[in-house]
Formats: sequence, C-alpha cells, structure tokens
Amino acid sequence: MATLPIDSRVSARTADFLTQSQRMFVDGRFVAAASGKTFPVYNPATGEILTHVPEAEAEDVDRAVRAARRAFDEGPWPRMTPSARGRIMWKLADLLEENLEEFAELESIDNGKPLSVARAADIPLAVDMFRYMAGWATKISGSTLSLSFPGDFHSYTLREPVGVVAQIIPWNFPLLMAAWKLAPALATGCCVILKLAEQTPLTSLRLAQLVHEAGFPDGVINILTGFGEGAGAPLAAHDGVDKVAFTGSNEVGRMIVKAAAGNLKKVSLELGGKSPAIVFPDADLDRAIAGTASAIFFNHGQCCCAGSRLFVHERIYDRVVEGVSNIAAGIKLAPGLDPSCEMGPLVSEEQFQRVTSYIQSGVDQGAKVAVGGGVGGDRGYFVQPTVLTNTNPRMKVVSEEIFGPVVCAQSFSDADLDAVALQANESIYGLASSIWTNDLSTAHKMAKRIRSGTVWINCHNVFDASLPFGGYKQSGWGREMGEEVLNNYLETKAVTVAL
Ligand code: NAI
Ligand code: MG
Repeated sequence: MATLPIDSRVSARTADFLTQSQRMFVDGRFVAAASGKTFPVYNPATGEILTHVPEAEAEDVDRAVRAARRAFDEGPWPRMTPSARGRIMWKLADLLEENLEEFAELESIDNGKPLSVARAADIPLAVDMFRYMAGWATKISGSTLSLSFPGDFHSYTLREPVGVVAQIIPWNFPLLMAAWKLAPALATGCCVILKLAEQTPLTSLRLAQLVHEAGFPDGVINILTGFGEGAGAPLAAHDGVDKVAFTGSNEVGRMIVKAAAGNLKKVSLELGGKSPAIVFPDADLDRAIAGTASAIFFNHGQCCCAGSRLFVHERIYDRVVEGVSNIAAGIKLAPGLDPSCEMGPLVSEEQFQRVTSYIQSGVDQGAKVAVGGGVGGDRGYFVQPTVLTNTNPRMKVVSEEIFGPVVCAQSFSDADLDAVALQANESIYGLASSIWTNDLSTAHKMAKRIRSGTVWINCHNVFDASLPFGGYKQSGWGREMGEEVLNNYLETKAVTVAL
C-alpha cells in the first residue's frame, strides 16, 4: 500500500478501503461505470487525491432504474412483511454501528469535518435514523371511514409505497443525508436509486458493502457515483422513476422540478436557508453567545439550517457580538483527523472560492469584519470563522446563502415582536430559526411569528429522527424525518365496498 501523507493518516481498515478499487452498487452487484470512466475524490485538508470512483452516466442510471423497477414490480421488498423489512433495516444499523470508527474516519477525510464530530454526530445519527424508521415499517396503516353517501358502504384507506424513488444528496453530512433519504423510503417498501454527491462518495460506497451484508434483496438499494449533470439530471428525468427526493441548492432544486415534469414524478426538496438566531435582552447571555456561535460555526457553517443571520437587541448587541467573535477567534483550524481540530477545511475548492468571494462581496458592500475574514493555512480549503457587522438586508451576504463559517450580525431595537419577526422573516428562505430568551411568552409568541419549518428555543442544531425537518417558502417541499417524511413515500388508496 502506498504511504498516505500525514494529514491523511487513518487506521488500517480505512486505509484498506481507500486502496480497494471503488465500485458502485447496482442490482446487488458492485460495478464499474458502463463507460469505464472514473473521477478523483479529494482530501479537502490537503487537496490531494484519496481515490477514484466510477463516473455514472445515463447508461448506468438506466441500469440502476431498471434494477429498482424490477425489485419493486416483481421483487420481494414491497411484498415482504413489514416486520421482515424492519429487521433487515435494523441489521444495517447494527453493522453501521459496529463499524462506526471506520465510517467516522472516512467521513472526516472525505468531507473535512473533525473526526470527533463525525464520531459523535454524523454516524450515530445515521444509525439512529435506520433504527427509528425500521420501527415505522410495522406501523404504517390506513383508517376506516364513515360515509354519508346514501347506501351501505364499508370504506377504508391503504397506505402503499410510491414505487421507485430517485434520491440525490449533497456533501455536508454525506452518510447522514443518505440515511435521511434511504431509511423512510425503505420502511415504506420503496426501491431506491441513490446518487451521491461527487465531492463525498466514500461513506455511502462503504455502506453499500453493509447493505449487501445485511441481506437487502437485489435492486432494492442502488448507489451511484457521478456528477450532477451526467448522472443526477438523467436520474431526475427518467420515466422509470416515480418520485425524486433532493437535497441541495435552490438552483438545482428548480432543475429537478423541471426534469420531474416529464412523467410528473412526485417531488420533495430540502433546499437552502438563511436562518435567523434572535437574541432578546433577557436571554442568558453566556448560553446565547455559545449557542449562536455554534449555530453558525458547527460543521463550518455548511448546514442548510446554519444560524447565519444573528439578530441581537441593541442593548446587548456589543456584548453578544464580542462574545461570538471571541469564540470564533479561538476555534482551532486543522485537518479533520488532527486530534486538536475544532474546524476543518471546507469541502472543496469550489466552496472555498464561493465562501471567500462572499466575504469579499460583504466587505465591498460596506460590511466590517469583526473577526476572521481570511483563509487558514497555505494548503487545503480552510476559511477562518468570520463575524461580519454593519450588515443590512440589501447585502448579498445577508440575503444569499453562503454555506460557510460566516455570520452577519444585525441589531434590533423594537420591543414589538411583530416588528422583530418582520425583520427575521425578511428572506426568501424559511428553513430554521432560533430564539434566545428567558421569557416564556416571548419565546412562544416568536415561535408562532417566525415562518420556518424548525424553531429552536435556547438551542440550535438539535436534530432527532423523530423531529420533522424542512422548509417554508423557498427552503423546500415536504419534510424529512419524523412520521411526516413517510408521506413523501406513500400513496393513499381509498377502498369502498358496497355492502
Ligand atoms: P448542488 O445543489 O449543485 O448539488 C447537490 C446534489 O445535486 C449533488 O449530488 C449534485 O451532483 C446534484 N446535482 C447537481 N446538478 C444537478 C442536476 N442538474 N440534476 C440533478 N442533480 C444535480 O450543490 P453544490 O454545487 O454542491 O453546492 C452549491 C450550494 O448549494 C452551496 O454553497 C449551498 O449554498 C447549497 N447547498 C445546500 C445544501 C443543503 O443542505 N440544503 C447542501 C449542499 C449545498
Ligand atoms: Mg452544484
């Protein structure tokens, strides 16, 4: 085995996986791309190549869709007892948990996030998602209905899987996004083609090996590596697909909707955000400072729900901004595998360029850099945690999603909650928000007034498999997780019998 550079030092098992020749997973088999093409996967801490993966194109998409179609139309999966489906899903969760350390390393080296975060958050949450949804497999049921139609009838509803599902995911929580997508689809009896983000395919390729081991029938889960245009677009447009579920940018979300129009696929979308964190003067300030800093800097700000607009009451504005800035200044930037790492590199050179040019545009439009603003290190895609002040809603940094460790601080003076909410709601997005106050009435009144799919009170970034997550306004269609996500993957059939 070739010696990996110091920033890429991993355990023997992870190194072994990296030196295997990488394969996609189609119809229960590990396959190369039909064209034989591959593309490189980079370590964002160094810019070095970790491995190469197959580059799926239309032909590979077609094979995967045909496999999923067969598994759904003829195969055992949707006809299996819900209990049997749930047990296989639970087995997958167990296997994942047994290999937690290897998955955490792969995630860290591929995405750039700290190993400690992958170990404590990404992988355990993915395990939990499979278990939570395995439990739902046996609890999907319809209802009996009372008709007023003249005559004597017995009516009931059946809840049935929507069919073959295309799922397209991003790179910010690679394995967790795969779990959010796969688990509910599998629980309902759907068959899936999952297209991974081109930046971060490694953990889901390793997951494919566990899918095989867990005993899923052939074609139930198909996993493709490839680019958006080459693989994502033909998948979203394919006539053999009944539903497409997407997480990523609004720009691509719109393309998915258009591509889905051909055969009128069902569509669910989890898109961007520009979430406000609103600090009232009666808040516990230490907690609010630590919490709003974490709201933006967790995962390097590469979270759709990142608290990227910090609203602070003018009486405490200076203290809070100074506190968040001090935290930002103290965050240790290092490669994800370095034990001292608190923030790793951004995921890719493209994101590095995007985020640094946003910071520049903020400065050009008159924002002040309270802390950060620069890049970290002479290689890798590191950007310093950054606090911008003197910002206003006309600036691009305030109105657009940056998806990096950059927060825009603004103050409010109103005691009128409607006015505060108006300011916080001034966005095309409506994904999440957090409210920091010790006043119960303020907290709940604000929770009603904010137009977002998630409201956190005195916390931010609390995720659980049971909590529905998704967007108002342009942040998306439908919800992920919780009981609610099952609606994305189920059709309702009304059955009426004349007695
Ligand atoms: P993207 O939206 O281009 O990529 C997300 C996924 O969509 C990837 O799997 C990609 O291959 C696929 N894709 C791209 N073009 C496609 C097409 N024409 N048809 C079908 N699939 C396609 O996101 P990207 O370029 O990685 O990041 C750009 C920005 O998007 C970020 O700066 C951030 O603002 C936002 N974003 C939001 C995410 C979220 O969680 N809501 C996650 C990732 C990015
Ligand atoms: Mg893109």
